[in-house]
Amino acid sequence: MLPTKQPYSWNLIGIVTCLVILILSSAFAVKTFTPEPMVLEIPSNFPKPTYDFANNPLTKEGFELGRKLFYDGSLSKTGDISCGSCHQQYAAFIQADHDKSHGVDDQLGRRNALPIFNALFKKSFFWDGGVPKLDFVPVNPLENVVEMDMKLDSAILKLNASEKYRSLFKNAFGVDKITSVEVLHAFAQFMGAMISANSKYDKFVRKEGETLTANELEGLKLFQTKCSSCHATDLFTDGSYRNNGISLDFNSDKGRAEVTDNPADIGKFKVPSLRNVAFTGPYMHDGSFETLEQVLEHYNSGIKQSVTLDLQLMNKDGKPGIPLTKEEQAKIISFLHTLSDFELLHDNGFSEPNH
Ligand code: HEC
Ligand code: HEC
Repeated sequence: MLPTKQPYSWNLIGIVTCLVILILSSAFAVKTFTPEPMVLEIPSNFPKPTYDFANNPLTKEGFELGRKLFYDGSLSKTGDISCGSCHQQYAAFIQADHDKSHGVDDQLGRRNALPIFNALFKKSFFWDGGVPKLDFVPVNPLENVVEMDMKLDSAILKLNASEKYRSLFKNAFGVDKITSVEVLHAFAQFMGAMISANSKYDKFVRKEGETLTANELEGLKLFQTKCSSCHATDLFTDGSYRNNGISLDFNSDKGRAEVTDNPADIGKFKVPSLRNVAFTGPYMHDGSFETLEQVLEHYNSGIKQSVTLDLQLMNKDGKPGIPLTKEEQAKIISFLHTLSDFELLHDNGFSEPNH
């Protein structure tokens, strides 16, 4: 039997109703969760990123949330220490004037802070490489008793108790209940999007209208022959762990060996990037050098010979050191100053939000 034909107007009413429902529901979805995608430009002179935003799509809302968390002192036990306390923008995101970092109750950490820009390209995190992935980094400073001393679980409870944060997390990640996943993803979005690649050197190598002075160029050449085997690529690190002879006593800090448990790694630390190095003093994992002049003199005459000292730092005559005259040292230093990215230091997009 053939179905009785509906009058035309009934069909129309059906179609219109469906359309109205569709439009309403999409309008509702628009209201609750449509973060604005953020596109990052990868500098042409940089290696490939190590962090993959495919698993944590970068959005304006996610980035802004990460920024708010980064500067929020209430995520520490005493309510006054935020990530930004030890990673200060005017000091290229390290803690200025500190050889060891200051955390809750004015306690001292045991290492010098590392900068957080270009985290997108790092192979591992911390001086000993103890954390392999950017997503996991914040757990360490949050829970560290001399840094922020706040268990991740307690931080998440605190965030869930805040109406403001609940709505920000909903806008960024579409969730009603905040979990560690969204918290860590927000931090990773803020840090991952902080690219520092606009120094004089960058604009020179990318042929963007900058030139280097004769001194700086000679410094660059010296650097390429004496330093770039470890401070490699335009990130100025090969991401490896090495002992560059600053100490003979590794009892209080074994470096990479604390992660691998391998005696051959005692005294090896991550080769740091030298970007913005003019601002990141004091230098080395223990902050043992105040100035770049001291660092250069260290490579020339101060290298201490221990079993794990990097072989590249041994001369043919069996003595340690990279021989450099005072003039050569000065030239290298003037080159290192071309790695300063003043745009990073003054970019309001990375500063403490005022809301
Ligand atoms: C009390 C000071 C202090 C606070 C607070 C702090 N940090 Fe750090 N940060 C450090 C120090 C010191 C290091 C180096 C530690 C090490 O290597 O063992 C470091 C290292 C890092 C690194 C590794 C960079 C690299 O190149 O390996 C990242 C990323 C980072 N911190 C992010 C954060 C975030 C995110 C927060 C907040 C949740 C935070 N920090 C809070 C002092 C601090
Ligand atoms: C054999 C590898 C190697 C060579 C070659 C090398 N470095 Fe380093 N450099 C390191 C390591 C490893 C560290 C970190 C050591 C630590 O903190 O224990 C470091 C740290 C530094 C720092 C401190 C950065 C900071 O933020 O604390 C500066 C500056 C530096 N090197 C400059 C140079 C210069 C200039 C040369 C060439 C004259 C050079 N390095 C050659 C491995 C090397």
